[in-house]
Amino acid sequence: MNMIFDTHAHYDDEAFDADRDELLETLFSTGGVCAAVDQGTTVETSKKALELAHRFDGIYAAVGIHPECIDENSLSELSVIRELAADPQAVAIGEIGLDYYYDTPRELQKEVFRAQIIMANELGMPVTIHDREAHGDTLDIITELRPKGILHCFSGSLEMAKRVVSMGMYIGIGGVVTFRNARKTVEVAEGIPHDFIVLETDCPYLAPVPFRGKRNDSGMIIHTAAKLAEIWGVGTEEVLRITKANAEKVYFGR
Ligand code: NI
Repeated sequence: MNMIFDTHAHYDDEAFDADRDELLETLFSTGGVCAAVDQGTTVETSKKALELAHRFDGIYAAVGIHPECIDENSLSELSVIRELAADPQAVAIGEIGLDYYYDTPRELQKEVFRAQIIMANELGMPVTIHDREAHGDTLDIITELRPKGILHCFSGSLEMAKRVVSMGMYIGIGGVVTFRNARKTVEVAEGIPHDFIVLETDCPYLAPVPFRGKRNDSGMIIHTAAKLAEIWGVGTEEVLRITKANAEKVYFGR
């Protein structure tokens, strides 16, 4: 049975233009993948995520505006995101968050982030959060607004992870945990309850070892799961079973 649930993918990305349909068909037939949530980053890619979700069994969509893609129109575009979120294949508001690595004004990022969490709360939907070099503000905002959902590609400390989990949110672990310099991520994977960890690719980026630097896809999650199995001292199948159940709880409420 296919057991890989990829909680965070970007199959709408142009890196998949040449072979998207073939790749997805393979992943869902012989590649071990049972589900993948394609994450919108703009109105345009949110629509593409939904389109993929309608064409492929097992693909679901998150709709939202990513902090790197924010501009002065973003707040007014949220009414479109709200309409897209009504699609039955939309399972989350995402990818949203804060990215202080880039130059987008921080006040505007926070405003758009907050507005999208409030929308998700109103709609009773989870969020998928991107936090890059913005741990303090991310933690402050989720502590105040209490969304449900996932902190994806988690890069904070174990202490932060524990606070996130204490609010009922999940930690997304991806290919980074297999990298040689992943001490902090390993510590997080080791230190929080297994019931709060989900697996992800963030494909086409962040392929796990031994594919680091190559185009990532959901099938490669098996290497991330194997690393997690080593950290937890259980079998890889067990990791896939636990993280699939966690992902279903977040996205489907079961
Ligand atoms: Ni992403």
